[in-house]
Amino acid sequence: NKILLLNGPNLNLLGRREPGIYGSTTLKQLEEKIVALGESNDTEVVCFQSNHEGEIIDKLHEANDIGVNGIIFNPGAFTHYSYAIRDAIAGIQVSVIEVHISNVHSRESFRHTSVIAPVVAGQIVGLGMIGYELAFHAFLERIKGRE
Ligand code: DQA
Repeated sequence: NKILLLNGPNLNLLGRREPGIYGSTTLKQLEEKIVALGESNDTEVVCFQSNHEGEIIDKLHEANDIGVNGIIFNPGAFTHYSYAIRDAIAGIQVSVIEVHISNVHSRESFRHTSVIAPVVAGQIVGLGMIGYELAFHAFLERIKGRE
């Protein structure tokens, strides 16, 4: 089994960026945690973060080409307006779970819209870093065919 953990713009700053909203865990700590979770569940976790829309799109295509079992994806602010990322997800076979650390619905109104929501398998919002772990477990259930 193989899962891609994909983080979008500004998430490289996790731990230092608005800690009152996003907490104190760094991206490296998050990635290590999900990789370890994969190791104890017979699953390889590949991690990628980029601040660039095109690089994220390339990674989505590549994940599809190599046939990963699922993509755990926090698209950052691209969530709210990137039709190019939405189209990339719509164009691949791999299912995507959208994760947001903060509760986007209790924040500014521009964060209430997700243009990618219609093309993902599901969303996990507002539960902090645990959201990524929950997404991992959701994919595990799907892989096992128990979903
Ligand atoms: C975010 C929410 C987005 O609105 C914001 O632009 C981010 C992070 C979250 O994880 O809560 O960069 O996706």
